[in-house]
Amino acid sequence: MQLVQIGRPVPGREPADVVRTFCFHQNLAAQEASGDRLASVSVERVLTRLQGSTESDALLLALVDDSLTPVLAPVGDLGVPVIPATDDERDLEVAAFAYLSIPLLEELRVVEVELVLDAGYLPLPGEELDTDAVSVRAELMRGVEEVCRALGRDVLQLWSDQGAPEHYCPAVTVDQYALRAATPSPRVPDGFSVRVARNYAPVDGLSTLLSTASADADHGHLHTEPVRWTGDRLREAAARLAARGETQLVVLLVDGSGTARALCEFTAHSGADPTVAELGVVSVDRGFRGRGLGHAVLAAGLTNLAPEVQTVYASAAAGDTATARLLAPYTPELLTSATAWQRILP
Ligand SMILES: CC(C)(COP(=O)(O)OP(=O)(O)OC[C@H]1O[C@@H](n2cnc3c(N)ncnc32)[C@H](O)[C@@H]1OP(=O)(O)O)[C@@H](O)C(=O)NCCC(=O)NCCS
Repeated sequence: MQLVQIGRPVPGREPADVVRTFCFHQNLAAQEASGDRLASVSVERVLTRLQGSTESDALLLALVDDSLTPVLAPVGDLGVPVIPATDDERDLEVAAFAYLSIPLLEELRVVEVELVLDAGYLPLPGEELDTDAVSVRAELMRGVEEVCRALGRDVLQLWSDQGAPEHYCPAVTVDQYALRAATPSPRVPDGFSVRVARNYAPVDGLSTLLSTASADADHGHLHTEPVRWTGDRLREAAARLAARGETQLVVLLVDGSGTARALCEFTAHSGADPTVAELGVVSVDRGFRGRGLGHAVLAAGLTNLAPEVQTVYASAAAGDTATARLLAPYTPELLTSATAWQRILP
């Protein structure tokens, strides 16, 4: 087997076959894990991520069976042959992919890894990986660890619902839910009004609420550093959203002084199913918690979604009682659970 890196896409060009194959297998794995045909990611979204941004970079690696299809490609900076992400039709026998997210503003030790095995290695629902799949995964992870060393990163976080290779410890389990129940009519607490903002448009209190959520959310034992939101960071995030063709809806509860004290956030991706939205952060100012603002802002947020949205995805760390209580009125249907396994490289 040979490890290859998929290079940077050339904007506007056709996705390479290997990128289409990755998306196909990633969607298959997501749908099998969740039993939900709506769980999908578009080729366009992967290509956009592979272009990188000032906030995070992404890298796609493939473990290829080179006995059938030898890979001829120049070796890149990370010591791995690089094949194009666009305009490339070579037919590769890929056994497994690793999709690496590399945060650039905080978490400078961390690489997040998503493994996607070829469908031939996926176990039947409820079964374990077989020995061939386990050895493919181990070989791919050895390559990923070398790439992380070349990147100067030593904390690897691997999301998997099928266990993990040797040396990885469970750090947090995150449950993904679909909310499908009708939204109760929101009751805006006395002294507050609802404000709707899109795409990180500045509102008094927005940066504080986003920073607080990042600091206070339940991350289990994951190595995390809180994100510090500033006006510049909001502007950069807005520019990235626009570049990716994504939209973000933020619904806030604003007090009499005009400062936002609670927010919830939803994102939608162009190219993805318009009947689906994803709940991001729910955050309440530390001085205003425990008096119903969390419930109120989420109800107001759901009411403000586009009328065509029928399913809202939400996730919560297992054991995060506050988030579980927030989602409870919407009869959340558990779709899938994924555990982050962490290894600090010696
Ligand atoms: C989670 C959070 C939004 C709750 O805000 P809040 O205004 O205190 O929420 P509410 O008063 O509306 O309470 C919502 C429910 O959560 C429960 N709850 C709130 N904080 C809790 C805590 N620390 N532990 C256990 N339950 C909690 C409440 O008892 C209530 O339950 P109920 O429906 O059974 O009455 C707030 O604590 C916060 O901003 N946390 C940091 C960010 C975060 O973790 N966000 C959620 C994931 S993105």
